[in-house]
Amino acid sequence: MNPVKVGLLGLGTVGGGTLNVLTRNAQEIARRAGRGIQITHAAAKFYDPAGLLGLDQVEVCDDAFAVVDNPEVEIIIELIGGYSPARELVLKAIENGKHVVTANKALIAMHGNEIFEAAQKQGVTVAFEAGVAGGIPIIKAVREGLAANRIEWIAGIINGTGNFILTEMRDKGRDFDDVLKEAQALGYAEADPTFDVEGIDAAHKLTILASIAFGVPLQFDKTYTEGIGKIERQDVAYAEELGYRIKHLGVTRKTGKGIELRVHPTMIPERRLIANVDGVMNAVLVMGDAVGPTLYYGAGAGAEPTASAVVADVVDIVRALTTDPENRVPHLAFQPGELSDHPILPMEEVQTAYYLRMTVDDKPGVVAAIAGILGDAGISIEAIQQKEPAEGETRVPLVMLSHRVEERQMNQAIEAIEALDAVAGEVMRIRVEQLDG
Ligand code: HSE
Repeated sequence: MNPVKVGLLGLGTVGGGTLNVLTRNAQEIARRAGRGIQITHAAAKFYDPAGLLGLDQVEVCDDAFAVVDNPEVEIIIELIGGYSPARELVLKAIENGKHVVTANKALIAMHGNEIFEAAQKQGVTVAFEAGVAGGIPIIKAVREGLAANRIEWIAGIINGTGNFILTEMRDKGRDFDDVLKEAQALGYAEADPTFDVEGIDAAHKLTILASIAFGVPLQFDKTYTEGIGKIERQDVAYAEELGYRIKHLGVTRKTGKGIELRVHPTMIPERRLIANVDGVMNAVLVMGDAVGPTLYYGAGAGAEPTASAVVADVVDIVRALTTDPENRVPHLAFQPGELSDHPILPMEEVQTAYYLRMTVDDKPGVVAAIAGILGDAGISIEAIQQKEPAEGETRVPLVMLSHRVEERQMNQAIEAIEALDAVAGEVMRIRVEQLDG
């Protein structure tokens, strides 16, 4: 049988990795897929041919729409990224009856509902494993491997760049900007790295995970997003003293009132496996009612780890080319007519415990006043520590851990604490999760 012809859009980090993996492992992949898979056409505005394998077999042009319109091509791999023209290209490929594989989490999180509806009508597949957690097959695990379960919650380190920055800051005391530059040079960061450090990239991925876990439409606009830019080295140190690590987590949990959908720095007990996931590695902890907790770990970014997921999606599509569309795995894990309208919970109604750090006057009555505000707001304190003042300073850092409380109550308490004359500047807050079920 002739090889399946594939059109590749984008020959950057992941595009190059995909070409290399498909070329290097061609025989092994064909034995798995049942047919050879050949990238015959590619589109790229700029690319560096050095180190690319099998490029002589590929017709390269700079017009992605020409590849999408090429009748020889059966599968399009979209690795351009961004919203536009990626959206138009994917919709055009679908209209032309082609299957699509993409690593574009931004596109799926923002336009996935429209894209999957179009794909459903045309009887084609849009696969996006590479969009979430790089090389970890987390989409397949949640959508297929855990299909027996009611998923209760998911918590993940799903941005490699952010985790790399936090790890280097903690282990080597390196400067934020310096580490970010290295992450960019290594090909981990998004084209716009604020997507990484402000949690937008993680929010895209979490949106997708929540949909396939709970069977709800993609709702990126309702995801709460907070970045790692405010984390100071002193917070990292105090967290360690308290037996915690700070990780940039995406958390989604189904409660009776709604679905939590939030990305923020989170303190987690250092004894948890996920607290020890460092560098560019990602990990996703999934709690299913039948299976209990399961943890998935691997490289969250980089050329070949991401290519691993891209190629696996292509193999899945090739294996299913002759099946009826209605017998394929649904895009969002649940049958399209079975998505629920369970609401996304506003952040003010989410409950977590908190780490608070504030700078206060070192004089009698200050701690009592702060404890009084928290008590009046119904917030129970688990631990409180006054730290040594920095040299020449009269004010001291005060660190507290609270029990679980609704975000709205904590917002009100923090506002009242910041209004005290004895408290300087803003209160630093980091949400705390035990991740123990
Ligand atoms: N910029 C992303 C990250 C790439 O650092 O995780 C993989 O999605």
